[in-house]
Amino acid sequence: MAEGKLRAAVIGAGVGGGHGYAYARAPEYEFVAVCDINPEVLARFYERADIERGSVAEYADYREMLAQERLDVVSVATPDHLHADPVCDAVAAGVRGIFCEKPLATTAEDADRIIAALDRHNAVLSVDHTRSWLPSYQAVRTVIRSGEIGSLTRIVAHLGGRRAMLFRNGTHLVDAVCFFADAEPVWVIAAHERGFEDYGPVYDGRGGRDPQFDPGSTIIVEFANGVRGLINCAKRTPQMFELDLQGTDGRFWVTDQQCMAWKTDTAEGTPEVVSPPPGRGYASPFGANLIPAVQELAQAIQGEAVSSSPAVRGRHVLEIMVAALRSQAAGSAKVELPLPRG
Ligand SMILES: NC(=O)c1ccc[n+]([C@@H]2O[C@H](COP(=O)([O-])OP(=O)(O)OC[C@H]3O[C@@H](n4cnc5c(N)ncnc54)[C@H](O)[C@@H]3O)[C@@H](O)[C@H]2O)c1
Repeated sequence: MAEGKLRAAVIGAGVGGGHGYAYARAPEYEFVAVCDINPEVLARFYERADIERGSVAEYADYREMLAQERLDVVSVATPDHLHADPVCDAVAAGVRGIFCEKPLATTAEDADRIIAALDRHNAVLSVDHTRSWLPSYQAVRTVIRSGEIGSLTRIVAHLGGRRAMLFRNGTHLVDAVCFFADAEPVWVIAAHERGFEDYGPVYDGRGGRDPQFDPGSTIIVEFANGVRGLINCAKRTPQMFELDLQGTDGRFWVTDQQCMAWKTDTAEGTPEVVSPPPGRGYASPFGANLIPAVQELAQAIQGEAVSSSPAVRGRHVLEIMVAALRSQAAGSAKVELPLPRG
């Protein structure tokens, strides 16, 4: 075993290939094992992770892997609604850090179960809302926190394209809004796209593969600090992922490529375009974006860093999405957060 390195493994070898790519390249880690119930997915894992087959142990049963491998960190990259059991079992087996694919869960009960298990076993979890680690996002949030655009008051956010599904991909947008809003959500009002009027108050996305089971939705969310988000996930629009961050003294417009503009009001009241904060957007391959995330998780386990995408924010995101379902089911009524349980 490599001296002093954290032993990492992946559960779910599809998207988990990107996680394997990151562990194999981050110097804090020894990447030791991968698990999937589907042998064909396991066989394809190595191409995405860009490592040699045979360099890590393979398992079909994650509980056996947890029992055999003395793991420090585990990625959970199973389908959207199947995160809670492997997360809870891993921390109960002594794993100290979890990198969980998004969304954290698809029910409030599963999210509560995850957070209770983390607390009980003193473990740390980051949710792979991948933009949380983009240097451009972090730079913009730092500038907003410094008061450069006064008080942030409104966030107008758009997700477009065929797969603008609330839970599957909308979770990234809802999380980005929470990332910049920097406060707890307090209420939600939502109206789904046409065809989903009768979707119901409970997630029925079946893992997130098919857009017909996961609605687009337009959501108003209010945060405790007065920031209000308007979140628009709409499948019948061009592909986009963008946020307009509006403050009392200026505005940022953020896309995946970069922060496109920073406008600030001058004394005369005319907007002045100034240089955006430095920082790049998405890297390729996908796994390259996860290296900073797993490095941060290694530090968080030692108490030397705080996750940029903590479980508590993952639960806020989930509550906003579930509240959107409940709001639509109640005729676009206002739904207060946190949601009542039971
Ligand atoms: N962060 C991102 O940008 C991004 C992009 C795509 C997908 N995702 C997320 O990654 C996760 C997985 O994606 P997907 O649903 O498309 O699936 P996928 O294609 O990655 O497949 C999931 C795998 O999990 C395996 N699996 C299911 N239950 C298992 C178990 N108990 N033990 C071991 N393996 C198990 C399945 O056999 C399958 O191979 C989802 O949460 C999804 O939202 C994230």
